[in-house]
Amino acid sequence: MITFTIAITKGGVGKTTLTANLGALLADMGLRVLLVDADVQPSLSKYFPLSPPQPVAGLTDVIVRGEVAAASITQTVFPNLHLVASDDPEGRLPNWLLGRIDRGFRLRHALRAGLVPSAYDCVLIDTPGAIGPLQDAAVMAADVLVSPITPEILSAREFRDGMMELLARLEPGSALGAPPAPVKAVIYRQDRTADARLIVAGIAREFDRPHERVSLLKTVVPHAKAYKEAATLRVPVHQHERRREGTMPSAWSVMHCLAWELMPSLRGVLADGRRVQGVSS
Ligand SMILES: Nc1ncnc2c1ncn2[C@@H]1O[C@H](COP(=O)(O)OP(=O)(O)OP(=O)(O)O)[C@@H](O)[C@H]1O
Ligand SMILES: [Mg+2]
Repeated sequence: MITFTIAITKGGVGKTTLTANLGALLADMGLRVLLVDADVQPSLSKYFPLSPPQPVAGLTDVIVRGEVAAASITQTVFPNLHLVASDDPEGRLPNWLLGRIDRGFRLRHALRAGLVPSAYDCVLIDTPGAIGPLQDAAVMAADVLVSPITPEILSAREFRDGMMELLARLEPGSALGAPPAPVKAVIYRQDRTADARLIVAGIAREFDRPHERVSLLKTVVPHAKAYKEAATLRVPVHQHERRREGTMPSAWSVMHCLAWELMPSLRGVLADGRRVQGVSS
């Protein structure tokens, strides 16, 4: 089982959209996927239709018990794609966590014991953009951190400063058995402006060092209306846009490249059960 936490210390960049679509694609590729909504604003919990529509329990139960009970998991209408929903509209969970000495480890331990490792191949955790105990807990639970960076100057700066500060804050986890997860940055929502291209080149110069803790993925997720449309229709974007005309790659193609880069063992596997010839792991 591998846990990806989608995190960056900036709001509105596309964390939830990326978590939902990557999770749905991996589920369509045949992996058993658990989405965890660790944001008090329950956007991921509302992203796809659920079955049954109302979860019995969710993240509060997981964090307070320190384990994932079957009742905390809700199925989405898509096969293989399950969810631990955010169920804390009044935002009590961050305060509860603050009072716990093991606050950084509760989610990590809950996901690494009990039913999750045997029932799922992949866990994807969506995080709040704001720094706080819930974001820390989600980051500490990661095997790999995935950070979407929009190529705007403020986002790029925020990534450099905010993310580095977050990682430095969590560094002491190493001594307690939670080694720092590698960070895979993905250029996200790139538009076709010269400004965006310049910023991407700057980010690449700074982070394109594959052997360091932070590395830049080759896949770029463009700014495209398919992602918004799919969110409105509540379907995975790779199902919504399989092909497109023009030079911009389809969401089907972009999301596959991203999944293959994050999980090289899946290279060549397609969401419809076929395999791409000539692409091997
Ligand atoms: N590739 C894309 N192209 C165009 N728009 C996108 C793309 N991905 C996401 N969006 C849109 O960007 C907006 C913000 O996305 P999202 O809610 O996923 O961000 P977030 O980082 O989770 O925000 P928050 O910090 O508030 O949780 C949404 O309107 C979403 O539809
Ligand atoms: Mg979000």
